[in-house]
Amino acid sequence: MLSVKIVGLGKYLPKKILTNHDLERMVDTSDEWITTRTGIKRRRIVEGESASDLGTKAARRAIKAAAVKPEDIELIIVATITPDTQFPSTACYIQKNIGAKKAAVFDVSAACSGFVYALAVAKGMISAGLYKNALVVGSEILSSITDWNDRSTCVLFGDGAGAAVVVPTTESKGILGIHLGGDGNLADLLILPAGGSRLPVSKSTVENRQHYIKMRGNEVFKIAVKIMVDTVVKALANSKLRPQDIDLLVPHQANLRIINAVAKRLGLEENRVFVNINKYGNMSSASTAVALCEAYESGRIKKGDIVALDTFGGGLVWASCIIRWD
Ligand code: UT7
Repeated sequence: MLSVKIVGLGKYLPKKILTNHDLERMVDTSDEWITTRTGIKRRRIVEGESASDLGTKAARRAIKAAAVKPEDIELIIVATITPDTQFPSTACYIQKNIGAKKAAVFDVSAACSGFVYALAVAKGMISAGLYKNALVVGSEILSSITDWNDRSTCVLFGDGAGAAVVVPTTESKGILGIHLGGDGNLADLLILPAGGSRLPVSKSTVENRQHYIKMRGNEVFKIAVKIMVDTVVKALANSKLRPQDIDLLVPHQANLRIINAVAKRLGLEENRVFVNINKYGNMSSASTAVALCEAYESGRIKKGDIVALDTFGGGLVWASCIIRWD
C-alpha cells in the first residue's frame, strides 16, 4: 500500500492586522482578558479578498516549493467553511486561478479539522492509485461569519490560508497513520445557524443575526481537550507509535489553554509543541495548514521527525495525522 508525503507547503495571510487593542474600541473587552483566556494578541483580516484569493496565493507557494507545474496537478481538495460561493466549490476557483486544467476539484466541510480531513481524503485517493499528486488547501475568511457585536466570539477568529502538495511514497514514510471522528449530537455547540437549506436567508434570519458563528465556548473547551488527546493517541496507535515519539505536535490553534492542557496530558514539553495562535487567532481549517507551513519554514521540522497534526472543531469533528517527515 502506498502512502503520501508532503513535498511543498505554502501560506498566505492578509495584510491587515486587527489587534486586541483595536477590539477594545469595538466591544466591551480588554487585551488582558483576550491574552489570558486565549493566548491571542492579534489576527489578520481581509479587505475585499475571498477564500479562493487567499487559497490561490497559498497554493501557488506550495506548488513552487514542490517544484510541480500547475498543469500537472491531478486533484485539488479545499477545506473551508467560508467558501466563495455555496457552489461551485472554492476548489473550482483555485483551479481556474492557478491553471490546473486537468485536476479533479472539490471542497471538504469539516470545520477546524478540515485540513486534516482533506489530507486523509488525498491520501486515500492517491493510495488507491487514482491520482499521482494532490493540492490540499485550508482557506478561511472567518471575518465574514463573525458577529462583530459579540465579544464572546469576535475576539477569537482570523483569516488566512495554507496549502500542501502531496505525492506517493513508500509505506514507512510520509503519513503513517490517521484518525478521524465526529459526534453530530454536539452540532449545536458550534454552528452557523442560517443560510443553508434548513434556514434559508430571510429578513428575519438577518435581523436575528443568524448568519454568524454561534458558540457555547465553555462547553466546547471542556470537550476539546479530551477529544484532542484521544484522537492523536489513536492516530499514533494506527502508526504503531506513542505520545513520547512525537517530535513536534502541530495542534489546531483555538485557544492556548487548550493547547497547553493537551500537551501536558501527552507529556510533551513546550519545545515539542508549535504555537502561532498569538499572531493569527483561530483560522479554522487554515490554522493547522498555516502552522505546519510555519513550523517547517522556521526549521522546527527536520527530516525523519515525527510530526503530529491534532485538530477538533464544529460538528463536533476531530482529526489527527502522524507524519514521518521525509
Ligand atoms: O476552533 C473551534 C473550537 N472552538 C474552541 O475551541 C473555543 C473553545 N472555548 C474557548 O476557547 C473559551 O471557552 C473562550 C475563550 C471562548 C471563553 O473563555 P472562558 O474562559 O470559557 O470564558 P467564559 O465563556 O466562561 O466567560 C467568562 C466571563 C463571562 O463573564 P461572567 O459571566 O463570568 O461575568 C463572559 O461574559 O468572561 C466574559 N467574556 C468576556 N469578557 C471580556 C466573554 N468574552 C469576553 C471578552 N472580553 N471578549
